Amino acid sequence: CRAFRSYSKIQSTPKRCFGIAFDIDGVILRGRVPIGGSPRALKRLYGDSGALNIPFLFLTNGGGIPESSRANELGELLGVRILPSQVVQGHTPFKNLLDRYENELIVATGKGEPALVMSEYGFTKVLSLEEYASYFKNIDPVSQYKSWTTTRASELDRYSNELVTKHDVLSNRVKAAFVVSDPVDWGMDIQVLCDILRSGGLPGQKNGHQPPLYFAADDLEYQAAFPSERLGMGAFRTALESVFNRIHHDVLQYISFGKPNPFVFKNAEAILRQLQPSYLGHYLSNNGDSGSEPFKTLYMIGDNPVVDVKGAKQAGHPWFSILTRTGVFNGNDNHADFPADLVVDTVEEAVDYILKRES
Ligand code: G3P
Ligand code: MG
Repeated sequence: CRAFRSYSKIQSTPKRCFGIAFDIDGVILRGRVPIGGSPRALKRLYGDSGALNIPFLFLTNGGGIPESSRANELGELLGVRILPSQVVQGHTPFKNLLDRYENELIVATGKGEPALVMSEYGFTKVLSLEEYASYFKNIDPVSQYKSWTTTRASELDRYSNELVTKHDVLSNRVKAAFVVSDPVDWGMDIQVLCDILRSGGLPGQKNGHQPPLYFAADDLEYQAAFPSERLGMGAFRTALESVFNRIHHDVLQYISFGKPNPFVFKNAEAILRQLQPSYLGHYLSNNGDSGSEPFKTLYMIGDNPVVDVKGAKQAGHPWFSILTRTGVFNGNDNHADFPADLVVDTVEEAVDYILKRES
């Protein structure tokens, strides 16, 4: 593409039009610890002046904090400057549902600050499931045994919606429930979500029509910091669904976002394209060249074959999948069911391969 060719005249790299999507857990980080040479690998995507040479973004099924906060956090951990637009989390597409629920009572759950995330997207009447449940006396029959809910308050969602009163909560039906990030208190979440979903949006009422339920992703397992995989949002969904389908006459209806859905990769491609002119514009002559010609190749670097590789394969051209051995996948050969276009040990090796291939 012309943006890259113009730039290549100045720096003699790169010549083709390409971009990179990095998975986070199991590729860039485990917990909060950088892995696989990720800080070094990312620095190679910037020029000496600190300007971005290669358009890249993070494409993660994780989340729980606003994209701007995640960008700052990643920047500090990895030692490079990250823009909020370079962070696509599992819940990022929830903002596309604003038309439907902007001024409706909705609940959000998961680690971090799920209600704050949703309010930053523009939803005005969102409550965390925890705050919502606090309006219903005795809704959680084992709450008195959960001493950690008070001792670790700093890690809970501190966002409190002053636009929603107790009267609003007790007299209005919840119009939709959102699982924004990995749930913390599965017991309470399953109990209260079942209450909301089977009653038609108002716990304690008779059965009603199930309000829509949205999950940010459906990962059964993910890597995290422990030596073996941890149960993810897909595991929580399975647990909730299993219980709900036993206690309710209709099966649970839900929609899951996140990888491997093809629209996530389409959206990533659109964002990467938008990143080109904003970063590279100053290298272009002022002839109106937007640098937005189609990418020849987009690289997805992930650790999870059934999520990252499957997603890139389903998305088709121009996606090229690279599987690292630093997370969920650690086999010697390629994955049997979802073989990647390339298998490497680390993200640093992946970036090295890309830069050589594209030079
Ligand atoms: O909770 C996060 C996990 O499910 C996946 O994160 O970065 O590997 O997509 P990531
Ligand atoms: Mg991962």
